[in-house]
Amino acid sequence: MKDKKIAFIGAGNMAAALIKGLIQDGHPAENITASDPDRDKLNLIGEQTGIGVNSDNSAAIADADVVVIAVKPQVIEAVASGISTAVAERQPLVISIAAGIPTSHLQQWLGETTAIVRSMPNTPAMLQAGATGLFAAANVNDEQHSLAESIMRAVGLTIWVEQESLIDAVTAVSGSGPAYFFLFMEHMIRAAKVLGLPEESAHLLTLQTALGASRMALESDDNPATLRTMVTSPGGTTEQAINTFETGGLEQLVMDAMRAARDRSVELSSQIQD
Ligand SMILES: NC(=O)c1ccc[n+]([C@@H]2O[C@H](COP(=O)([O-])OP(=O)(O)OC[C@H]3O[C@@H](n4cnc5c(N)ncnc54)[C@H](OP(=O)(O)O)[C@@H]3O)[C@@H](O)[C@H]2O)c1
Repeated sequence: MKDKKIAFIGAGNMAAALIKGLIQDGHPAENITASDPDRDKLNLIGEQTGIGVNSDNSAAIADADVVVIAVKPQVIEAVASGISTAVAERQPLVISIAAGIPTSHLQQWLGETTAIVRSMPNTPAMLQAGATGLFAAANVNDEQHSLAESIMRAVGLTIWVEQESLIDAVTAVSGSGPAYFFLFMEHMIRAAKVLGLPEESAHLLTLQTALGASRMALESDDNPATLRTMVTSPGGTTEQAINTFETGGLEQLVMDAMRAARDRSVELSSQIQD
C-alpha cells in the first residue's frame, strides 16, 4: 500500500486530516499529491507535510493509483467532469468523501468503468479518531477494497456497508453523532453547575467521564447495556438517574432523532442530485 501514489483533489480540512494520518502511518510523502485552486492552502500543506502540490487537478492525478475527491458536494460535478479524461487514461481507484453524492453519479461524470468507493467520514477524523462508513461500487476489486480501507483507516475506524442506501444511516449515526454527544455533554455541564459545581469542574468531570465511558465500552468485551447494569446498583444513585431518563422517553427520543437525521440525509442527497 505504501508504494501506491495517492492524489487528493481538494486540500481542505478533510484532505489535510487524511494526508496527516497517512504520513503518521508511514505513507511516504513523495507518494502523495494534492491539488486545490487555493495556492496558499497548497503551499501550507506542502510545507507542513512534504507532499507534492499542484494547482491543476488532472496533472495531479497523472500517475495516481488512487484519487481521493475531497471537495464540497456543490462543486463535485464540475471537478469530476474536469478530471474524467485523466481518470479514463489512468484508471485509478476513486474514493469520494463528498456527502450525498451517489456512486452512479460519480460514474456518470468520471466514466462508467471507474472503480469508485464512496465514504462518509466524521469530524473526529481531524484528530485521527474518526469513524468512516464505506461503500464499494460493484467493479471495485479486492486489492482496491483493501487500499480504500487502509487510506480511510489513517483517520480512524472504518465500517463497510453492503447497500449504498445505508450510507444515510451511517450519516445519522457517526456523521451527525459527535453533535449528539456534545449536546449531552452540554446538558450534563449545565446540570452539574445547577448542582453547585464550579464551571471548570463541571466541564472537566463531564468530558473525562465521557472519555472514560467511551474507552471502557470500546475496550471491554461487554456491550454498553451490560456495562451500564454493572454500574447501576439496585437502590443506588445511578438507578435513580437511569429511571428518570427512561421515564422521560430517552429511548424513543434517540430513535426519533436518528430517523430524522437519516431522512434529512436522504432529502439532502436528492436535492444535491437535482
Ligand atoms: N468536514 C467534515 O467533517 C466532513 C465529514 C464528512 C464528509 N465531508 C465531506 O468532505 C468533503 C470536503 O469537506 P471539507 O470539510 O474538507 O471541505 P473544505 O475544507 O472546504 O475543502 C474542500 C476544498 O476543495 C477545494 N476546491 C474547491 N473547488 C475545487 C476544484 N475545482 N478543484 C480542487 N479543489 C477545489 C476548496 O478550495 P476553496 O476553499 O478555495 O473553495 C477547499 O480547499 C465534502 O464533500 C464534505 O461533504 C466532510
